[in-house]
Amino acid sequence: MDNDSLQEDSGPRRQWLQLHDKTFVLYLSETEIQARVAELGRLLNASHVGTCPVFLVMLKGALLFASDLMRHFDGPAEVSFVRTQSYCGTESTRQVQLLLEPSSSEVCNRDVILVEDIVDTGHTLHHYLPILKSQQPNSITVVALLSKPDMLEQPNLALDHVGFSIPPKFVVGYGLDYNGLGRNTRSIYTLKEEE
Ligand code: PRP
Repeated sequence: MDNDSLQEDSGPRRQWLQLHDKTFVLYLSETEIQARVAELGRLLNASHVGTCPVFLVMLKGALLFASDLMRHFDGPAEVSFVRTQSYCGTESTRQVQLLLEPSSSEVCNRDVILVEDIVDTGHTLHHYLPILKSQQPNSITVVALLSKPDMLEQPNLALDHVGFSIPPKFVVGYGLDYNGLGRNTRSIYTLKEEE
């Protein structure tokens, strides 16, 4: 957590956010996030030497994380996108809709780095990974910035790299939203306690 005493409610180091009807307070600072993203980038560099992976970005939430993560990858790489949707407000509906997926030619025989912003119940990855596997990539490496182990309802999910394991709190920011808002912050925020 960020221990400084800034009280601003605007700008990149804001301490709290108001989105729709809810107030959120700082949970992971930009500094903490960027340090961990750099570490994850180093791990991917080490595991993908001599390859040209495809960063497969889970839209919309992983957009900011993936764009920062890719900047830490030193070798050649491509990018493609997948879009799923399963949340309504602060709750997972557990019904995963696949709205966009890569063509087979983008992932077949390729080393795919699947970039997720958060694994919560696990239903999204549980639904999508078999679809991706059916397109016959050479390898799949799953990288999630956040994971909520206490919320996981799909315990057999294989996550290769997790940025932060967090308690079962609703979080927004740095790509994650609350009913569409909050994605464009540099830090991550959590619901204020009384809410
Ligand atoms: C969120 C998040 C993950 C998924 C995780 O996506 O970005 O993809 O839910 O939840 P789960 O592990 O419980 O399935 P969402 O469906 O909200 O779409 P978005 O990324 O466009 O916000």
